[in-house]
Amino acid sequence: MNALRGKKILLGITGGIAAYKTPELVRSLIKEGAEVKVVMTPSAKEFVTPLTLATVSKNPVLSSFIAEGNDNPKWNDHVALGLWADLFLIAPATSNTLSAMAHGRCNNLLLGVYLSAKCPVWVAPAMDLDMYAHPTTQKNISQLTSYGNYVLPVGEGALASGLEGKGRMLELDTILTYIKSHFTKNKPLFKKTILLTAGPTFEAIDPVRFIGNYASGKMGFALAKEALLLGANVVLVSGPTIEKIEHPDLTLISVVSAEDMMNAVQKVFKKVDIAIAAAAVADYKPIKSAVQKIKKSNGDLTLQLTHTPDILAYMGAHKKNQKVIGFALETENELENARTKLLNKNLDGIVLNSLKDKGAGFSGSTNKITYIHADLTSHSFPLLSKEECAKHIFEQILAE
Ligand code: C5P
Repeated sequence: MNALRGKKILLGITGGIAAYKTPELVRSLIKEGAEVKVVMTPSAKEFVTPLTLATVSKNPVLSSFIAEGNDNPKWNDHVALGLWADLFLIAPATSNTLSAMAHGRCNNLLLGVYLSAKCPVWVAPAMDLDMYAHPTTQKNISQLTSYGNYVLPVGEGALASGLEGKGRMLELDTILTYIKSHFTKNKPLFKKTILLTAGPTFEAIDPVRFIGNYASGKMGFALAKEALLLGANVVLVSGPTIEKIEHPDLTLISVVSAEDMMNAVQKVFKKVDIAIAAAAVADYKPIKSAVQKIKKSNGDLTLQLTHTPDILAYMGAHKKNQKVIGFALETENELENARTKLLNKNLDGIVLNSLKDKGAGFSGSTNKITYIHADLTSHSFPLLSKEECAKHIFEQILAE
């Protein structure tokens, strides 16, 4: 359950604005079972205080070779820190620190720890887009990679400078996925491709209105993260959602309508090993979407609806060696309906969640699932986080 249980993570923080996110990162690492110590560059202290980090990590925070502010100077042993850690994560890593690391400079404690560390070193760069794109930075990153460091990609979006582009530190959740995958020894989905559908679909009524549902995309994204942890290549076809994910082994295809989702799925389905349909696809759409906004009038408005394509049924009908797993959100005769769905759609498994169960369903962060296999045997699980549900779903799929 706790992927980092008993692991010693040394977090190195450098002086970039993304440093303000690091107390949350420490919390998440601890939540996953890790023990965390923090080492900072002097300039990182301008962005986040050592007191905050010492409080959340429950360990002293070090930033200079000699312990500050006491009459008996003490040597902060960089070698011991490097030896203590199972993994050294430097996040955020500024262009200055990347450059110093690439050239072996050692003018602060963090760099001293880096040079003497024997453990794997992971680096999450964060800087403005032009600094990141600069050939020197790119060269430093290649250099660091050639020395065996793991340099993470950067995120894209709003930057502290007000500009938009590539340079943001990766989302904390994504950094965590990488760190967890480092410690996942058994990677049963290595070299496998997993197709996932996630989120709702929006079916246009006119240019400003749509038929949609409350699906958040959380279950599908949790499945994507779990598949990545298990070593898979993931194709995630998602309807509109605020969920975020970035990973070199993941292709995210953002779609809006059921038809878009079907087109995306049809393009990749042949090449996948396992497909899981977690999307809450609208079953009906307006026969015609109005070109102009429909004006309000005094009378009633009747919308004529037609079926959307059933993506899961398509995959069930066209599968060769692929395993196809669906979801069933039921409100009555749950087990029976889900089993019928599994048979009708020619599935290898179906995940049942009932709206009757408190905390289950598609909009929250928890779910209560029953996994039904092709032979109709089933396993029920208690109310769990969607991440834990995702783990159980893959365990069931892989147990077949
Ligand atoms: O038959 P029902 O729509 O209840 O089945 C739900 C399952 O089918 C879910 O896995 C959902 O992702 C999938 N589905 C689909 N395309 C649709 C409708 C549902 O892939 N048009």
